[in-house]
Amino acid sequence: MEKKWWQEAIVYQVYPRSFQDSNDDGIGDIRGIIQRLPYLKTLGIDVIWLSPIYQSPNDDNGYDISDYQAIQPEYGTMADFNTLLKEAHRLGLKLMMDLVVNHTSDEHFWFKESRKAKDNPYRDYYIWKDAKNGEVPNNWASDFGGSAWAWDAVTQQYYLHLFSKKQPDLNWDNPKVRAEIYQMMTWWLEKGVDGFRMDVINLISKDQKFPNDPNVNYQNHSSSMEMAANGPKVHHYLKEMNEKVLSKFDIITVGETPGVTIEEAKLYAGFESNELQMIFQFEHAVIDDSTEGLGKWSNRRADLVELKQILSKWQIGLHNEAWNSLYWNNHDRPRVVSRFGNDNEEYHNRSAKMLASTLHFMQGTPYIFQGEEIGMTNVAFDNIEDYQDLDTLNAYQDLVVEQKRLTHDEMLEYIHHSSRDNARTPMQWNNQQNAGFTNGRPWLEVNPNYDKINVEKALFNPTSIYYYYQKINQLRKEYPIIVYGDYELIDPDNSKTFVYRRKFNNQQLLVISNFTEETLETDYCNFDFESSKRLISNYSDDLGKTLRPYESKVYLIND
Ligand code: NOJ
Repeated sequence: MEKKWWQEAIVYQVYPRSFQDSNDDGIGDIRGIIQRLPYLKTLGIDVIWLSPIYQSPNDDNGYDISDYQAIQPEYGTMADFNTLLKEAHRLGLKLMMDLVVNHTSDEHFWFKESRKAKDNPYRDYYIWKDAKNGEVPNNWASDFGGSAWAWDAVTQQYYLHLFSKKQPDLNWDNPKVRAEIYQMMTWWLEKGVDGFRMDVINLISKDQKFPNDPNVNYQNHSSSMEMAANGPKVHHYLKEMNEKVLSKFDIITVGETPGVTIEEAKLYAGFESNELQMIFQFEHAVIDDSTEGLGKWSNRRADLVELKQILSKWQIGLHNEAWNSLYWNNHDRPRVVSRFGNDNEEYHNRSAKMLASTLHFMQGTPYIFQGEEIGMTNVAFDNIEDYQDLDTLNAYQDLVVEQKRLTHDEMLEYIHHSSRDNARTPMQWNNQQNAGFTNGRPWLEVNPNYDKINVEKALFNPTSIYYYYQKINQLRKEYPIIVYGDYELIDPDNSKTFVYRRKFNNQQLLVISNFTEETLETDYCNFDFESSKRLISNYSDDLGKTLRPYESKVYLIND
């Protein structure tokens, strides 16, 4: 395996809307990001992944793009973007853009033309179908609830939207669409951006028979994404994209691929596949979904044995064949310390560090989501009016107001557990007004715990979660075993600990984490302490085989 820079890189995801506001309109912006670049540099990351900053009517916070080559005015101007790129590069940071090309906004010029008439030159840029017996063309459900088809009165046809009505799916079978997208990508790469995170890229090729979804259940808020996933020509299109665009630049690419299996992942991100460099798999991210058919709406706690089994399967499954991405968090998932750790005051610091060690010593490229490095937690707003995410609001309307399947209180509890807004509350910079995010009214309320959890405080405290992430980032640069070693899960059935071993040349790495509040007696440390070194731990001393609550320690052992 030839070593690549992006295998050794650490990525940090910025969700621009919630990162730093520089003009007090309550919305994060590009100038705000520029101000914070030194902070990111000090954390020891290499690449910034920017969630979309393109022009957008904001139905889905920028994942509905109306102009791929213009900057959302709320975020600034193209001149601001150019400064950001220049400044990032000056500091040795790379910039990865979000590429959202499964769909556009319905306010994109292409769609505005497309919907004008059946013979419009842009008609085939999207997926239009006649009604079937006066009904929708098939039973597919949108990921945000309801049918995936919207009726257009002017031309008397339906268009497909796997997400909101304002996110019509592009027709990738039209070569003109592909050519436009490749041209746009090339434009950004020639400008100097360093790569792309590709939104739901495994949905771009639809089975032209558009078969019904055998598992659809509108009542259960299920989505038909799997029907579009890994479609007949998806690999053909990605190989084409690679040949025409990606292969011409030394960049980082990661595909968001919901529902992907290991076998499929090897096709997308195999070392020989000439498609993408890595993908985001979803198995561990949906592990606490509802068992009552309510999708992600639940308050279930994940099962550790299952979590270990999934992450280990990916470690072993891709080893030497393809490359993993490592993530706990992103803008769509609840905060990891609340989800798999413990966000009460007593264990917040230790459990956040424990989770960092558990994931970041695996093989793959780590992705840190903004605020994760200070242990930002889920938020629990009392009023549904305080939520902004369309997915959350649609689900509330559907499950509480219309179907009356859940009471307001039940749904609110599920929202506190699973809503995407958990990840989207503004970045907590200090204990001043609105956590230093804005002097205006924030677009989404700040998590009230910002007086306790904020960057300023973290930077003053040598034992903060921030410095722990910083140290992990340094270790990854120092020890190739972290990047390249192989992986073995130890004690798979233990429901309290997560322990694994990595091996590389003459070295071993042993990662031991206690996922509970209990003190445990273990036999994991049966090795010669003389030849081993504790690289990092969330406790200052070491009690050997005794593991204290949420204790995590990583040993390097020289054979
Ligand atoms: C995945 C993105 O991460 C999510 O935020 C968005 O809503 C959908 N794709 C649709 O673009």
